[in-house]
Amino acid sequence: MGLRCAIFSVLIFLVCVTVKSQQNQASKIISLGFSLSPTNPPTFWPSPSGLFAFGFYTQHTGFKVGIWLVGNNGNITIVWTANRDDPPITSNSTLELTRSGKLVLRTEEHRGEEKLIANTTGSAASASMLDSGNFVLYNDTQQQQPIWQSFDFPTDTILGGQNLSMDMRLTSHLSDTDHSTGQYEIILQTDGNLVMYPLNIEQTPTDAYYASGTNGYAPLFLSFNHSTGTLALINSTSFEAIISLHSGLTSNNNYKTIIYRATLDFDGFFRLNSHKFNASGGESQIQTEWIQPANPCKVRNFCGFNSYCTFNDNQPYCLCVPGTDFIDPNKWSLGCDKNFSRRVCKDGIENDTNSFDITTMEQMSWGDFPYVEIMQVSMEDCKKSCLEDCNCEAASFVDSTCRKHSLPIRYFERDVGGGAFTALFKVRVAKSEKPPLPETLVSGRSKKEVMSILVMTIGLLTSSCVALAISGIYVYKFRVLKYKRLLQYGNVGIMQELTLHLFSYSELKKATNGFKEELGKGSFGAVYKGTLCRGKKLIAVKRLQKIVEEGEREFQAEMRAIGRRHHRNLVQLLGYCIEGSKRLLVYEYMSNGSLADLLFKSPRRPDWNERIKISLNVARGIHYLHEECEAPIIHCDIKPQNILMDEFWNAKISDFGLAKFLMPDQTRTFTGARGTRGYLAPEWQRNIPISVKADVYSYGIVLLEIVCCRRSMEVNVSTPEEVILSNWVYNCFAERELNKLMVVGDEEVDMETLENMVKVGLWCIQDEPALRPSMKSVVLMLEGITDISIPPCPTTY
Ligand SMILES: *[C@@H]1O[C@H](CO)[C@@H](O)[C@H](O)[C@H]1NC(C)=O
Ligand SMILES: *[C@@H]1O[C@H](CO)[C@@H](O)[C@H](O)[C@H]1NC(C)=O
Ligand SMILES: *[C@@H]1O[C@H](CO)[C@@H](O)[C@H](O)[C@H]1NC(C)=O
Ligand SMILES: *[C@@H]1O[C@H](CO)[C@@H](O)[C@H](O)[C@H]1NC(C)=O
Ligand SMILES: *[C@@H]1O[C@H](CO)[C@@H](O)[C@H](O)[C@H]1NC(C)=O
Ligand SMILES: *[C@@H]1O[C@H](CO)[C@@H](O)[C@H](O)[C@H]1NC(C)=O
Ligand SMILES: *[C@@H]1O[C@H](CO)[C@@H](O)[C@H](O)[C@H]1NC(C)=O
Ligand SMILES: *[C@@H]1O[C@H](CO)[C@@H](O)[C@H](O)[C@H]1NC(C)=O
Ligand SMILES: *[C@@H]1O[C@H](CO)[C@@H](O)[C@H](O)[C@H]1NC(C)=O
Ligand SMILES: *[C@@H]1O[C@H](CO)[C@@H](O)[C@H](O)[C@H]1NC(C)=O
Repeated sequence: MGLRCAIFSVLIFLVCVTVKSQQNQASKIISLGFSLSPTNPPTFWPSPSGLFAFGFYTQHTGFKVGIWLVGNNGNITIVWTANRDDPPITSNSTLELTRSGKLVLRTEEHRGEEKLIANTTGSAASASMLDSGNFVLYNDTQQQQPIWQSFDFPTDTILGGQNLSMDMRLTSHLSDTDHSTGQYEIILQTDGNLVMYPLNIEQTPTDAYYASGTNGYAPLFLSFNHSTGTLALINSTSFEAIISLHSGLTSNNNYKTIIYRATLDFDGFFRLNSHKFNASGGESQIQTEWIQPANPCKVRNFCGFNSYCTFNDNQPYCLCVPGTDFIDPNKWSLGCDKNFSRRVCKDGIENDTNSFDITTMEQMSWGDFPYVEIMQVSMEDCKKSCLEDCNCEAASFVDSTCRKHSLPIRYFERDVGGGAFTALFKVRVAKSEKPPLPETLVSGRSKKEVMSILVMTIGLLTSSCVALAISGIYVYKFRVLKYKRLLQYGNVGIMQELTLHLFSYSELKKATNGFKEELGKGSFGAVYKGTLCRGKKLIAVKRLQKIVEEGEREFQAEMRAIGRRHHRNLVQLLGYCIEGSKRLLVYEYMSNGSLADLLFKSPRRPDWNERIKISLNVARGIHYLHEECEAPIIHCDIKPQNILMDEFWNAKISDFGLAKFLMPDQTRTFTGARGTRGYLAPEWQRNIPISVKADVYSYGIVLLEIVCCRRSMEVNVSTPEEVILSNWVYNCFAERELNKLMVVGDEEVDMETLENMVKVGLWCIQDEPALRPSMKSVVLMLEGITDISIPPCPTTY
């Protein structure tokens, strides 16, 4: 594996890169009023040795502010970046140590906007780029005590001489050429363990792919010796080494200077590199001295979902589990997806068992929680049980216990050590009949066509697949339990998340800090932000109002039923509280707000592909409520405000299952308040029975809103015809002028998909409920599996 340090070429060739004598430790003083520009020299401030520099470096077509190590031929290695996730800045920006003692970046695009590069308390009197690679600010010109130093805010790299203290972390960069936040982090936990995790997940022990095993030795810090490159965890009181991770180099006689650099790279490896400089000043060698994890197969997400890592000629590579194929063979981290069409699974009963068989793999393990566990069975029974259950796509068998799973599975690995199990995969043996094509709207397609559409669909679904499995935070096997982070989870531990938790009112009052931070108001009451487990876990607590006084038992039973609805497009209920007349629900916290905010308010409007993904997410969630639960659930209030975005931008439906608790007149009142055609199906006003088709109507409106990125009713439009979205869309469709619907700035819209989505939307909002498709048909149509016929005008009058 080649050396993969991030090396960039500077725009401005570094004029004089002479390594000054090692004795020259005198730092160059950067005084108040000095400034840098990306293109007009000076573009950087060098350290006395010339090996390090602080200033502007190029990224893509713009610039970033950072610190780099100067190498051969003007090649540079970025070791620190300021505000790394800000977009690159343009050439007419300036960086200045102002007369008032602040280090600020001024960008011309936003005239007058000053961005702090160093957030200091008190003002600086001078600054210095040190030979260690540390950029420091002092509050006096004698340069006594730094008031700010880049070493205290590492990004992806620590340098020799730099320490990492507890609770500090390094976060990988995105790619060789982009130093914004990537996908992995290494953190020195407060329990003393140095652990590597993928980012953006709960970070439970199974997610960890490296751990130093020094939990319980706190307080300690990670020290990186600048002269030997020794990387060790040191007791903070006695300064004795607890463990030496890399023992360092002894002889460096051949080189004038060696700079040690440890970087968490974009590929998830933590590499300790040495940069050797010879007497004539050239950097003669960059070498990787130490790398973790040593086994590349250990890096989480090296192989994506439904795949596993193995070796060929010492080169790691990924293989799909039986019955799946790579989503993109060149991008292993995307994982694999089933290579046969997903059947709609009703009641969990597989009536087509002859089409499937079970393939087994020995000594495997994976990291997700099963949806059901059967004890005291034989392997044969386990196979049979999985075959007869259409939800079962994989199973594990160990010690007479059979655990059934749905795909995707993650962290699948060959595990020759103890505790590994036999993995069972359901594979298709012969072609059986096509997935049932529902209702009259659809016409058949040839198998070949269906397959090619499927392939395309899989492409579209790629992005959603990436996040799919993460919905399960459920850790089943605690193999990486060398450390005890779990203890901090308190009483709502990982296992407890599988069952609904009954909270006391005072517990929730405390968790929400006395219902202090209101996240929003729903149709059933206000929602508050809260935390559990000493601030480790964010929750959303809903205080229900205007709820029918259900008997306690009924309410509990109902909550349990809702709590069992685990679907990746439904907001997860974690627990509830019943005390007197108080009814509270505890949900997972959705960090990215509502779809309404995203579509109508956010400066970062989702692009076309994201919007397709969101439409499918929502359709799948409603489909689940309508058809895959024991009794259908009518949501009654599908609208963008009730669709929430999780941290991976998956759309999830909230407030499901609550409609039945409403006061009898509540929905009516609500209807009245809504006034004209908002999201409510016309039958609400016609006093005819409400069915699941009412939700289909609301979904249709939401779908059109997603397509056009605007509200169903918008007064601020250029022509009166555009005020009511559904009418406008139908007119454009009838006049074959769909290009009018395209949102400004959407480059990648493909007209066929746009037309299909519009057609689905128009079918959904038919006045006549019977004409609207079921949600199952909607999903199949959106996935491109079934054809969509021409919709009639939605309104009959
Ligand atoms: C440095 O730059 C030169 C050309 O400028 C390039 O050939 C070389 O691969 C780069 N990297 C190293 C490590 O020298
Ligand atoms: C700054 O640069 C950007 C792009 O290079 C340009 O659009 C903008 O007009 C420039 N502003 C000034 C004040 O020159
Ligand atoms: C600067 O730091 C203080 C506290 O350390 C923090 O409250 C403040 O938000 C920071 N400001 C910026 C611009 O990051
Ligand atoms: C510099 O800051 C330190 C604390 O950070 C303070 O004790 C000292 O008085 C300051 N010196 C000046 C000249 O402001
Ligand atoms: C790192 O820790 C050592 C030991 O505590 C200390 O001497 C040194 O100054 C620290 N380095 C930095 C940059 O804080
Ligand atoms: C760290 O050093 C102190 C002082 O020698 C000692 O009392 C303590 O036990 C050490 N901590 C650990 C975890 O070894
Ligand atoms: C670095 O290692 C050398 C040689 O072992 C030692 O003399 C020196 O004190 C170490 N430096 C630090 C800051 O621990
Ligand atoms: C030092 O390194 C440079 C660049 O690699 C090389 O050209 C030069 O010959 C080396 N000098 C010595 C004395 O090794
Ligand atoms: C699906 O994959 C299995 C092996 O995993 C293979 O035997 C089967 O032929 C594949 N089916 C299709 C339709 O590609
Ligand atoms: C399987 O069940 C579906 C509906 O549940 C039905 O339409 C289909 O005919 C059944 N197939 C077989 C082979 O029984």
